[in-house]
Amino acid sequence: MTEVFDAAVAPSFSPAADSRAAIGLLRRLRSGPGRDDPYPIYARLRALGRAIPTPWGGLLLPHYAECARVIKDKTWLVPSAVWRDEHTPGWRSGLTAVECTRGMLQLDPPEHTWHRQAAAPRVARRALDRLAPAMGGHVDACIDALTTALERDGRADFVATVAHALPAAMMCELVGLPAGDGELLRGLVFDYTQVLDLSPTPAQVKRADQAARTLGAYMDRAIEQRRREPRDDLLTDLIRAQDDGGQDEPELARSVATVVLVGVGETMAGMLSAMVVALAAHRDQADRLAAQLDADPGAAPGAISVAVEELLRWDVPLQMTHRVATRDTDIGGLPVSRGTLVHLLLGSAQRDDAVAPEAERLDLRRTPAATTLAFGGGIHYCLGAALARMLAGLVLPALLRRCPPLRAAAPPQRPPGVTFRSMTSQLVEPDI
Ligand code: HEM
Repeated sequence: MTEVFDAAVAPSFSPAADSRAAIGLLRRLRSGPGRDDPYPIYARLRALGRAIPTPWGGLLLPHYAECARVIKDKTWLVPSAVWRDEHTPGWRSGLTAVECTRGMLQLDPPEHTWHRQAAAPRVARRALDRLAPAMGGHVDACIDALTTALERDGRADFVATVAHALPAAMMCELVGLPAGDGELLRGLVFDYTQVLDLSPTPAQVKRADQAARTLGAYMDRAIEQRRREPRDDLLTDLIRAQDDGGQDEPELARSVATVVLVGVGETMAGMLSAMVVALAAHRDQADRLAAQLDADPGAAPGAISVAVEELLRWDVPLQMTHRVATRDTDIGGLPVSRGTLVHLLLGSAQRDDAVAPEAERLDLRRTPAATTLAFGGGIHYCLGAALARMLAGLVLPALLRRCPPLRAAAPPQRPPGVTFRSMTSQLVEPDI
């Protein structure tokens, strides 16, 4: 795959876009219809310009080229505590907001490097061989539960049966927590991530702070227990890194474990929910892929991994992230002063024609022209990308081979928020 962003930036830029129009579109993005289908709104944002000023002094980046450039460039940093102290007075009143700035996702080097190195060996690609058999078992159990419910009731909630159950299981397997705690942890992570939404409401902040308190107490107990009984798991690795690392990071284990739970929770649920919705809405493509798997099992892994990448391009689980300019520069044809916050609209960028011709069209056989931004890029590139692909690579063939073709039995139910493509329910039924 080739990078397209240099070529895409070179032609003349659109003029500065109308920030009032952008605000109207952002409001629509937060509305029920906008959450159901944000993609026409993103298309209008892309038509407005390559960098769109916001009334709060930031910039929206709806195109692939600018998102890719910023996310890979080390001179753009995450909105850290230092930046927030300078630019968003009062932000420290939110417990979760403060906790998030102590976690990997919102740390800059060198702290970011320490946190990442503590978790990386256990989450890296080569470590997945150990997790794959366990996750294979969980996938089988979830698909069994789905087919049983479909046979018994004629319909089933895919989100409860599969899309929430699998990340819950993965959290426990990966970190080394009791299997029975998965659903509790997944629910807490959902509430916690409310604070990562674009301009969270007071209700979202309150919910997140309650979850942060419960999750923090849970983690403290788990760490205490694991100190007494070390095991072959991530939590034990993190405690060792905290004790041996030579850095003054008394909360490193708790912080990294929490970020890993957050990393797994809503993104994986979003990926699996989006997968079933996309397959149901593109029955011809699902049938073709299923037939291909039957006809040529040897080619299956390649066809599955191409399809997984396209599903992740088409409806990306993490729809946006944010960066701050560390020097005066320009982006999308607009001057940017040091300290400016930019919003990288990943969901929009993945539907940019620079990524794939007719990018609004799902094509499970295509190889995009550009590196995916589904997992971000640069130093914050998703630590769990291989894990996510592994799980998708288990679930997609299981759905195609073991379930009847499915269709949506009701519209998806989505919670408030525009950062994650979350669902709380998706009823499905056989489409035969
Ligand atoms: C389909 C599933 C997933 C998607 C779409 C996804 C997406 C992302 C994205 C876009 C980022 C970068 C955020 C930024 O630059 O601001 C990220 C970071 C991260 N992800 Fe994932 N993720 C997924 C699954 C996972 C899983 C399974 C884990 C479990 C280990 C994980 C752990 C992390 C961590 C720890 C980071 C922070 C990395 C850093 O700051 O250096 N993610 N993820």
